[in-house]
Amino acid sequence: SISENRSFANDKSPLQIFVKAKKRINDIYDEINEYVIETFHFVNDLPHDIDIVDKAEKELFESYIFKVSAIREVLHRDHMKVAFFGRTSNGKSSVINAMLKDKILPSGIGHTTNCFCQVEGVDGEDAYLVKEGSDEKLNVVNIKQLANALCQEKLSESSLVRIFWPRERCHLLRDDVVFVDSPGVDVSANLDDWIDNHCLDADVFVLVLNAESTMTLAEKSFFHTVSKKLSKPNVFVLNNRWDAAADEMEFQDSVRTQHLERCLDFLSKELKVCSEKEAAERVFFVSAKETLNARIFESKGQPPHLGAITDGFQTRYFEFLDFERKFEECISKSAVKTKFEQHSSRGRNIGNDMHLMLENIYDRSNVMKKEKGGVKKKLTDRIQSTESNLMQITREMKQKIHNMVEEVEKKVSTALNEEI
Ligand code: GTP
Ligand code: MG
Repeated sequence: SISENRSFANDKSPLQIFVKAKKRINDIYDEINEYVIETFHFVNDLPHDIDIVDKAEKELFESYIFKVSAIREVLHRDHMKVAFFGRTSNGKSSVINAMLKDKILPSGIGHTTNCFCQVEGVDGEDAYLVKEGSDEKLNVVNIKQLANALCQEKLSESSLVRIFWPRERCHLLRDDVVFVDSPGVDVSANLDDWIDNHCLDADVFVLVLNAESTMTLAEKSFFHTVSKKLSKPNVFVLNNRWDAAADEMEFQDSVRTQHLERCLDFLSKELKVCSEKEAAERVFFVSAKETLNARIFESKGQPPHLGAITDGFQTRYFEFLDFERKFEECISKSAVKTKFEQHSSRGRNIGNDMHLMLENIYDRSNVMKKEKGGVKKKLTDRIQSTESNLMQITREMKQKIHNMVEEVEKKVSTALNEEI
């Protein structure tokens, strides 16, 4: 059945590297959370009259509960983000639609996208959009309505519209990929603001070029700025509208070679974001319009080639699939690395801090026992029992936090080396 095929395809998606790592790390943080709460209660419930732990320490312990819960909140919301850039009409919105297998974003000739549009998955069956600075969920029934909603508004070009699309309609949204569409880099004067507002947390950038012309200075300089602000951003280059080259068969190979060389030089020598060998895995020649057509036929159970615009459909279609696979692998690994490595080192810090505090408390109770030894038998006994509890909890704490952090780190590194 179609749904079986779909779930089979999804399980083999490299996005699962991220999905599985996220699930595991969430589980680990649930455990850390329980443990931190448990330890806090233990410290809080220590006998007041013995004076081993002061108020400030108790508050500090409590602050770890908040820290851990803040990390858990971020973890739940963690996603993979891809941002698309390029000149007006190169087909940025069409590429996103092709990947989402549906006409979601408005596309068309002329200057269409007039602000940033973020597409993200949402549970349930209803699509809606939310404008920047508002909580109102505007229902979106169809694409025309969406296009109108986007046009009617006097939106500033650097503002963000969030489009929530039912997760179950596309595996990329289901697996937490968030898409950011942008207005053409040639029509904006605020590229710096764009980068600061919408790009700093992107895991992957896709530069959509028009294969009929050549990379422009506006496009290049945008990515120069990006690579100055981010160290080694992941950049893919799509030479879109490659269907147009099919009409000029005799030049096709030489045009491809020329574009390819320029793109490889741009990534490896100009931006220096990757080696030439890596760059070869980042440049593709595709037709977004055709791929989208093909997928719309496919979704109706018809053969994809019905969506062909011109000769050479299979090759272009496969190249798009190849792009998606490499993209999924890249974004998945990059997001695991940047996001979860950070979480595991923060987890380690919290663990170490708490452990140190517990050890201090333990040492103090030891000193206290010696000082008060022989004075009041009953008090000494109580300190002694507190002390042995402390020793046990300190040891456990050390072991547990150590194990958890170790597991997070192991998960991150296996995720990064995992072959699908
Ligand atoms: P702006 O939003 O205005 O910046 O443009 P954009 O980059 O989002 O381009 P869009 O996706 O709106 O596409 C512009 C026009 O080019 C539309 O009419 C698309 O149908 C068409 N188009 C997009 N990709 C292709 C392609 O691969 N081949 C052909 N032949 N046409 C395409
Ligand atoms: Mg657009």
